[in-house]
Amino acid sequence: MKAIILCAGKGTRLRPLTFTNAKQLIPVANKPVILYSIEKILAAGISEIGIIVNPENVSAFKETLGDGSDFGVHLTYIVQEEPKGLAHAVKLSEDFIGDDKFLMYLGDNMIQEDLSKFVNDFSKSDLNASILLTPVEDPSRFGIAIVDSGAIVKVVEKPKNPPSNLAIIGVYLFDHFIFEGIDNIQPSWRGELEITDAIQYLIDHDHKVQGHVVYGWWKDAGRPRDLIEANRRVLANVKNSRNLGTIDGGTSLEGPVVVEKGAEIVDSIIRGPTIIGEGALIINSYLGPYTSIGPKVTIENSEIENSILLENSTVRNVSVRIDSSIVGRNVTISNMEAKPKVHNLVVGDYSLIKLS
Ligand code: G1P
Repeated sequence: MKAIILCAGKGTRLRPLTFTNAKQLIPVANKPVILYSIEKILAAGISEIGIIVNPENVSAFKETLGDGSDFGVHLTYIVQEEPKGLAHAVKLSEDFIGDDKFLMYLGDNMIQEDLSKFVNDFSKSDLNASILLTPVEDPSRFGIAIVDSGAIVKVVEKPKNPPSNLAIIGVYLFDHFIFEGIDNIQPSWRGELEITDAIQYLIDHDHKVQGHVVYGWWKDAGRPRDLIEANRRVLANVKNSRNLGTIDGGTSLEGPVVVEKGAEIVDSIIRGPTIIGEGALIINSYLGPYTSIGPKVTIENSEIENSILLENSTVRNVSVRIDSSIVGRNVTISNMEAKPKVHNLVVGDYSLIKLS
């Protein structure tokens, strides 16, 4: 069986980070979100993966993932020239997939569930589709399914009055009938071919569509707060400290702290779970739990907690603790050294800054 991972969305809710990076390539615990998906798919026994990208982000994906061999998979890139929807992206993958059954995975999803049983059961069954579902508190944000004795009897995309709380979480198994469904649907109100409508076509034409409800942790990492929560969840699994860098005698470490190669920590308090990337420099600072410090980041005379800092950024002499924040690549945050004591900002479009 093959898999496709859909990564062509624009990630508008993660601006400005997504102006310069695809949302699936933003690191959580210093690892791009998409690698968590690739690992799940590989663990389910699938190594032939098509990645649907857009013309703007295709080169960033190729640079980060290459042909996939570093990660034990073989990747084929499929470019979706225009944002015409998830079902359109699936249709573009038809040649890649061939006649076989396949797994479809939305690239910004992070799930706890092991997919092996879900995939194996489907490949042996006569089902036409099997869809992962999970109960949610805010069903109007998702595609929603009504299930009767395991079978999905209706799906509806982002309903105003949700008929159930079972959300479609972005992991689907299909056979070739889904292409017939896609050929027979019309664009939705948002101008996109919705995979949810193609699934409804299968149901309406007496194909077998099963719901597979899971209760483990799941995150659609589409908003900044989702990334911070995902970061917390991943770091919570770090149980052991590891030090490949340099930690001086004036530093105290509490809880699991991962220090990557070439990182240096001087006179600081680091409270894990925390990861400090290659070549980072932490001086006279406090790093609190659930913080991911990217490669070559410098933190000096500052305090940071529950946050994600990306590559090559600097935080220096900041007097108030930075909390629950995401800092992009090559950013500088520092104290105003000269008078007048003002906030002096050069802030990109769609940035969000809350001053205390
Ligand atoms: C898409 C699907 C929706 C699903 C969601 C999961 O929505 O259309 O059915 O519940 O992903 O994240 P989108 O993120 O495109 O709004």
